[in-house]
Amino acid sequence: MLTQLPEGFTTLVTGAGGGIGNAVVDALLASPRTGRVIGVSREPRPRATDDRFEALTADLTTSEGREALVSYLDGTPLHLTFNTIGMLHDDALGIHPEKRLDDLTPQAMARLFDVNAMTPALLLQALQPSLKGQHPALVASLSARVGSIEDNRLGGWYAYRASKAAHNMLMKTAAIELRRLNPNLAVACLHPGTTDTALSRPFQARVPAGKLFSPAFVAEQLLQVLEQRRPGDGASFHDWAGETVAW
Ligand SMILES: NC(=O)c1ccc[n+]([C@@H]2O[C@H](COP(=O)([O-])OP(=O)(O)OC[C@H]3O[C@@H](n4cnc5c(N)ncnc54)[C@H](OP(=O)(O)O)[C@@H]3O)[C@@H](O)[C@H]2O)c1
Repeated sequence: MLTQLPEGFTTLVTGAGGGIGNAVVDALLASPRTGRVIGVSREPRPRATDDRFEALTADLTTSEGREALVSYLDGTPLHLTFNTIGMLHDDALGIHPEKRLDDLTPQAMARLFDVNAMTPALLLQALQPSLKGQHPALVASLSARVGSIEDNRLGGWYAYRASKAAHNMLMKTAAIELRRLNPNLAVACLHPGTTDTALSRPFQARVPAGKLFSPAFVAEQLLQVLEQRRPGDGASFHDWAGETVAW
């Protein structure tokens, strides 16, 4: 797994309490090539003991949370940074994907932009001490195919689509700058496919048979897609099967 990274490589997984994030941690720990795995989550999450796993409780949508992560890492070089933070709906806040222009609210748009676009970019800003250098460094961040501007045929889901399109632009822009700090760094925006997690649960009825993936399957697939990324590559947008997605 991830043979372009050194034996015992160090990983940061953000959103480690989420469906896909948790499965990515499991998939990494299943490989003997994996070294330290630092999983960041808003709530402490019980996990089978593995000496390589370190849990950090922090809300990375806040500057305090990002500062706590930076001081925990203390400049440790990161070989794999895997961001899985993202949101589509929040019943408590009354946030649901919009069907029409009349459904748009500034509150929902601001929240989705904060979590889906600003947080991943501010995370990269904070992680620069751990990304700069000469070490091979892969930065993966979960996007969504509906964030593809070119692929948008159905409409709807305004805030989620737009926040993921903004996510992709921020990742692509950061990739250009970060490669000056580390010539062996590559950034990958990834579409996981429809995955059986809390995020997709209200929308699963419409998913065709065989198209709702388990988080474990998706984690394996995404790590295989990352296997194809070479340190020093520019930013890319791929789906779970390794197909390129149009920006
Ligand atoms: N599931 C799908 O079908 C699907 C399809 C396309 C794209 N994606 C993308 O894949 C990523 C992972 O999603 P998932 O399916 O694993 O969903 P999930 O189970 O809901 O996990 C998402 C995680 O993101 C973090 N998060 C969500 N809202 C947050 C908030 N308001 N403040 C701070 N952190 C927040 C949480 O991490 P902690 O619990 O660790 O704090 C949460 O567990 C997302 O970016 C999503 O957009 C998913």
